[in-house]
Amino acid sequence: MPKSVAGQPRKEHAGTAAAFIPPEAGFEILRDLSADCKACPLWKTGTQTVFGEGPVKAKVIFVGEQPGDKEDLAGRPFVGPAGGVLDRALKEAGIDRTQVYVTNVVKHFKWIPRGKKRIHAKPRASEIKACRPWLDAEIDRIKPHVLVCLGATAAQALLGNKFRVSQQRGTLIESPLAPKVMATVHPSSLLRIEDEDERHREMKWFMDDIKKVANLVNDSGASRT
Ligand code: URA
Repeated sequence: MPKSVAGQPRKEHAGTAAAFIPPEAGFEILRDLSADCKACPLWKTGTQTVFGEGPVKAKVIFVGEQPGDKEDLAGRPFVGPAGGVLDRALKEAGIDRTQVYVTNVVKHFKWIPRGKKRIHAKPRASEIKACRPWLDAEIDRIKPHVLVCLGATAAQALLGNKFRVSQQRGTLIESPLAPKVMATVHPSSLLRIEDEDERHREMKWFMDDIKKVANLVNDSGASRT
């Protein structure tokens, strides 16, 4: 059994990933260590840990819920259909995708089988809690100027379970996580809207939120060195 930081055997389903994270570990070490995380049962059904991606000096972090089917197979966040929506919105808002850090509150894909498909299943509070130290460590190393929660799972995990994306999206939220914190809808929710007019309306609203993010990023000055 692999050893934890303190030299103690790691427990499967330890309840929190904290036991896997040396306080002083640099970003690349964190990523490597996350590959062996067994703090909750999701490692058994996910193909691999999907750690965040982007420059350590990114000024903005986008936080989603969990990797989807494509992300699970690729080992990279936001590379599937929801990532496509996000990419297009970033481009339209003038945010350079290569300067953005994207990650999730849960780093394994949780799914249920339906025929041959793997269907997304919502993570439990205990799984979100178990995974949280990875996200905290990412935020700590990156120290973003702007943090954006995508969807209710991320927003409630990071801003409290009373947070309502439908009412509070697009507004700045006081938080110790970053100087500027905001939430908006999850891009995958836009893909599920069947009515075309409604989808266009919601896409436009999402774009308005992402443009606010672009202004916050631009207001933060030159990129960090
Ligand atoms: N949805 C998420 O929340 N995160 C991903 O990485 C992909 C889809």
